[in-house]
Amino acid sequence: MSSNPEEQLDQTEPHQVQVPPHPQWPPLSEGERAAAMARIKQMMQEQNAVLVAHYYVDGDLQALAEETGGCVADSLEMARFGTTTDAETLIVCGVRFMGETAKILNPEKRVIMPDLAATCSLDEACPADAFSAFCDQHPDRTVVVYANTSAAVKARADWVVTSGIALDIVRHLHGRGEKILWAPDRHLGHYVQRVTGADMLLWNGACVVHEEFKSFGLQRLKKLHPDAAVLVHPESPDEVVDQADVVGSTTALIKAVQELPNEEFIVATDDGIFWKMHQLAPHKKLISAPTAGEGATCESCAHCPWMAMNALQNLETVLRDGGNEIHIDPAVRAQAVTSIQRMLDFARERDRRGG
Ligand code: 13P
Ligand code: SF4
Repeated sequence: MSSNPEEQLDQTEPHQVQVPPHPQWPPLSEGERAAAMARIKQMMQEQNAVLVAHYYVDGDLQALAEETGGCVADSLEMARFGTTTDAETLIVCGVRFMGETAKILNPEKRVIMPDLAATCSLDEACPADAFSAFCDQHPDRTVVVYANTSAAVKARADWVVTSGIALDIVRHLHGRGEKILWAPDRHLGHYVQRVTGADMLLWNGACVVHEEFKSFGLQRLKKLHPDAAVLVHPESPDEVVDQADVVGSTTALIKAVQELPNEEFIVATDDGIFWKMHQLAPHKKLISAPTAGEGATCESCAHCPWMAMNALQNLETVLRDGGNEIHIDPAVRAQAVTSIQRMLDFARERDRRGG
């Protein structure tokens, strides 16, 4: 039980997650890179395909998405984009749950990914059968799951949320007097609980990338850069979140770099995001928040090993050879679409009211 009476952390041991090594992509010369991009663009046109990329993937893939009318976004906008395009094929460059969400929302489209093994530690730490049993033990609670989960877990949920909308949805549910069962990220859940004051029971999962950010190292870095603004993704531990000037989704952190007057920023999230930050604010200095503090294993070193499975090389292979298509069991899809659609409807209404 946490010190906050409105929040409880499930005390069962967290599910162990196997973290893969970072893939080592052979470097491409400028000529090889340009030729690969040209071949990919040609195949995308022939297959009526668009690229939906997350901010954490390789900069070449983000550039390709932008040059070909696709999108580079956070998980909420990636989900929305897929429903607005006429393309017959969605190529999702990100992690598995993003591809699954795209397929659930667009069952008539072909959804492919450069590597179907690109999963997420939060998804891995929340197996559907154990999660369903947990829900059965707490039938009085509204089930809210982070988008970083499997289709089967979403099928068991009342609501899906992303970091860009979690606060608003939980505030809304709390306002209706609902008690919440939250999964899988205990750090994000704890942050949401602290801000909203909702009664939340938390599943015991964590992101292996954000969990590595170290509070003590961050304190020291702040002393070296006293004018830097600190930007933190809420999957990070409390002691890191507490030192932030801005806490938010990847989109919110990028917006902060553009809009805050500071010249320097210390960034506690996957460093793939620097590509977009540099593009939008080229004169600002970006510093990675420290991950290698005392006791750190530094498995991830501020770069998600699953996001790193996306590269020009395997994108070209999947377009040329086919395969790597996402399929969702129709019964699971029929249930999962409800909780995702609820989030999208809520987001639309929020936008209509001006934020
Ligand atoms: P965003 O929705 O903020 O982009 O986060 C997705 C994610 O996986 C962060 O680790
Ligand atoms: Fe999952 Fe963390 Fe990677 Fe995001 S950064 S996809 S939460 S493991």
